[in-house]
Amino acid sequence: MPGPTTDVWEAMSTARTIRRFTDQPVDDATLERCLQAAMWAPSGANAQAWRFVVLRSAEQRAVVAKAADRALEVIEPVYGMSRPADDDNSRRARTNRATYELHDRAGEFTSVLFAQKYFPTASELLLGGSIFPAMQNFLLAARAQGLGACLTSWRAYGGEQLLRDAVGVPDDWMLAGHVVVGWPKGRHGPVRRRPLSEVVNVDHWDEFVSP
Ligand SMILES: Cc1cc2nc3c(=O)[nH]c(=O)nc-3n(C[C@H](O)[C@H](O)[C@H](O)COP(=O)(O)O)c2cc1C
Repeated sequence: MPGPTTDVWEAMSTARTIRRFTDQPVDDATLERCLQAAMWAPSGANAQAWRFVVLRSAEQRAVVAKAADRALEVIEPVYGMSRPADDDNSRRARTNRATYELHDRAGEFTSVLFAQKYFPTASELLLGGSIFPAMQNFLLAARAQGLGACLTSWRAYGGEQLLRDAVGVPDDWMLAGHVVVGWPKGRHGPVRRRPLSEVVNVDHWDEFVSP
């Protein structure tokens, strides 16, 4: 089972999203290393206009649980998801089972909300580009330590106001993403991606290199 690693190539290629966690809490030192890695990420003009809010009190976890419930109501019809039968062992059923477990148990885990200050001079794409690298660094640091993590869009699936009110996020800050962390029940493993040759063009659009 792939465990902790300091090899950057192994970390990047096996940083699968983890949605099923054990009951073991995440210790402060492990979480702090993930937050430090997030802090090392680049941002436009090195503005570092970000805030990482650790949600770990019982009160805030209850809010996260509510956001997860709401998100499930939104994504079930969008992705045509339903709780899989116990004897269904297809890949889709396994993924859905893990997703349901994450939503059902969301209130048990520590999570981190990533916020980015809004600047009217920058497009939303540019602002996103200044906070998503921090999230990716956080995810890689989690992977390196053998910690599991799942980036969620629960704020976008109806949880925005709940999370804003609970945390007290000022109006001129945008909620970008939310990462749930925990020790994996399953395993990290190779990410599934299309071959490089399908997406790399040379000099001109749609000009592919033959292998
Ligand atoms: C912007 C973004 C939003 C995501 N939102 C969610 C989410 O709301 N719930 C979830 O379970 N996974 C979410 N994910 C995780 C993706 O589903 C996952 O990264 C993708 O399916 C690839 O799988 P892998 O990370 O295991 O390789 C999100 C990922 C990104 C980059």
